[in-house]
Amino acid sequence: MVTAEQLYEKLKNIRTGNPVCQFTREHCDRLLPTIKKIEDLKREKNAVILVHNYVAPEIFYSVADYTGDSYGLSKKAKESHADVIVFSAVRFMAETAKILNPEKTVLDPNPNGGCSLADGITAADVTRLREKFPDHTFVCYINTTAAVKAQCDVCVTSSNVYAIIEKIPNDKIYFLPDRLMGENVINHLKVRGVNKDIQLWDGTCYVHEEYQPESIDQVRKNFAGVEILVHPECSPSVVDKADYVGSTSQMLSHVRESRRDSFFLLTECGLSGVLQSEFPEKTFAGSCTLCKYMKSNSLEDILSVLENPSPHHVITLNPEIQSRALHCVNQMFNYSN
Ligand code: 13P
Ligand code: SF4
Repeated sequence: MVTAEQLYEKLKNIRTGNPVCQFTREHCDRLLPTIKKIEDLKREKNAVILVHNYVAPEIFYSVADYTGDSYGLSKKAKESHADVIVFSAVRFMAETAKILNPEKTVLDPNPNGGCSLADGITAADVTRLREKFPDHTFVCYINTTAAVKAQCDVCVTSSNVYAIIEKIPNDKIYFLPDRLMGENVINHLKVRGVNKDIQLWDGTCYVHEEYQPESIDQVRKNFAGVEILVHPECSPSVVDKADYVGSTSQMLSHVRESRRDSFFLLTECGLSGVLQSEFPEKTFAGSCTLCKYMKSNSLEDILSVLENPSPHHVITLNPEIQSRALHCVNQMFNYSN
C-alpha cells in the first residue's frame, strides 16, 4: 500500500488549476485511512481497480492497480484474473469491461459517469442508419454504450482509429459518434492516399470541441521550441497545427521519448497533472478544462462500492447485447494484432 510520504512525492508537483493550489503532505495523511480500507477490501474480495488517465491524481496514484487510456484499460480488463473489477472512469468504460468479462462483477463507482459522445447516440439511431447505409461497415468509437456497440461491426479507440479504419477491407465506412475524430480520420487517409466513403454521425466531446487553433498560434509565438500535443477528439483545424496527435497514453509515451522539455497539451487537464508528476524536470502548459464526468470519481465512492454496491453501481447487460457487443470489441483486438 502507498504511504502518505510516497503519495505526497507523486502529487507535490501537480498544479491543481491555480499555481498556489497544490497538494500538501497533511492532505495525503488525511487520505490514508480511506486508502487503507480500499486496499483491505481489494484483498478480501479479489478486486482490481482500473483508473483512467483523466481521473483525479489522488486516486490515480493511490489505489489504482492499472492506469491508462481506454484501449490499455480494456486490455487489462480482458486479461484480468480478479473476481471484481472496479472501473474508475466513466460508464462506457465500465460497460466495456463487463462486455469482456460477463462472468465477473464489474463495479462503476462514479455517480455521474456520462460522456457527451456516448450519450449522443442510441441503438435505435444505429438501427435506422444501418437501413439507410446497408453496404457500410459500422465502426464505433469505444465512447458508446454497450447497446450501440451491439449494433456495430468494429470498435476503435483514439489509439487505433486511424489504423483500423485504413485496414478494414470495405471502402464504405459509417463512423460514429465523434464527427471531429471522423473528420480527422478522413484527412489522415487522404494524406496517405487512401480513398474511402466515410459517413459520420454528428457527435462531439464537449471538452475537446472547445479548443481553437488560435491558442496554438499564440503558444508557438510566446514559447519557442514548445511541442504541441493534441487528442484526436479535437477539431481538424486544431489537429492540423499540432506536432503530435494521440490517445492519452500515447501522449504520455511521446513525452517520455521526446527530446523537448516544454509541451502544450490540448486535452482534459488530468493528463497534464500526470505528466507534471512523471516528468517534474519538463514544463507543461495547456488547457485546464475538466471533464465533469471523469472528475466525479472519488476515493469515498470507490470505498462505498467495494463495501456495499447499490444496483446502480453493478454493471449488468442483457446477454444478447453483451455477446453482440463482444464481437464488435473483439474485432478491435483482432485488427490491433
Ligand atoms: P483515451 O482513450 O485517449 O484515453 O480517451 C478517452 C476519452 O474519453 C478522451 O476524451
Ligand atoms: Fe467523454 Fe469528452 Fe469526458 Fe472523454 S473528455 S469522457 S470524450 S465527455
